Amino acid sequence: MTAAGPPVTVRTVAELRAALQERRRTHGGRVGLVPTMGALHAGHLALVERARATCDHVVASVFVNPKQFDRPDDLECYPRDESGDARALGRAGCDMLYAPPQDAMYPAGFATSVRVGGVTDALEGTHRPGHFEGVATVVTKLLLQALPDVAFFGEKDYQQLLTIRRLAADLDIPVAIEGVPTVREADGLALSSRNANLTVQQRRIAPALAETLRATARRLAEDGAPADALLAEGRAALLRSGFDSVDYIALCDAASLAPLDAADRPARLLAAAWLGPTRLIDNVAV
Ligand code: PAF
Repeated sequence: MTAAGPPVTVRTVAELRAALQERRRTHGGRVGLVPTMGALHAGHLALVERARATCDHVVASVFVNPKQFDRPDDLECYPRDESGDARALGRAGCDMLYAPPQDAMYPAGFATSVRVGGVTDALEGTHRPGHFEGVATVVTKLLLQALPDVAFFGEKDYQQLLTIRRLAADLDIPVAIEGVPTVREADGLALSSRNANLTVQQRRIAPALAETLRATARRLAEDGAPADALLAEGRAALLRSGFDSVDYIALCDAASLAPLDAADRPARLLAAAWLGPTRLIDNVAV
């Protein structure tokens, strides 16, 4: 069924389940879930549009999950605009907005956490302690609350996407996890809610992240050169472009994220770098 106007807003698991049960009972069909933390941009809306194109009922969740923030200032600064989000979701064809309050998601006494091994060990896992445990815990809850047929996640957070695939498989959650390609600005910068925090000068530098990844990926694919030298050049190029520091630029197996010495199988090149207090991440296929 196709949405018209703003989505219905539900705030509790009971309301969510009752509304989805009713839709399934009267119309049948597939439920697609798009988990978000709000502050929606065209990257999120691409997930909703993909859900709209492939599912009969589209639910988006908006929940700023405190458990996945490793820095209190990042959580405080995280933009929030529920009414703007609801309007954008309606325009993109979303039927239902699930926006639970903090104490409904994590009531007093909440003591469970989901830790995924392997794919979370390096990269963001090293630089943002506790982040993936927070993501895995909230996504497990959202999947079990909505029990969708499909859930949609952006490839921009590639390590997150693999982490969620792993947890759904390991915990036998009956859902297909679908990755959606990164949406970019005309100059290549990957869309992110954090781009709003960049100064004019930082915004000019930011596209160098995608450019460097693309150029390095091309050379890794073509030259057959050892990855070490090209990754070091990529890091130096980011610093020369004006990035203040680089957490990592890494070549990894596309499925397991194990580090690679050369792009001799399907690989992913991932990077995280800082512009002032803002940390940007991006990745490309090699
Ligand atoms: O990618 C995000 O916005 C969040 O990590 C997610 C998947 C909604 C979990 O809070």
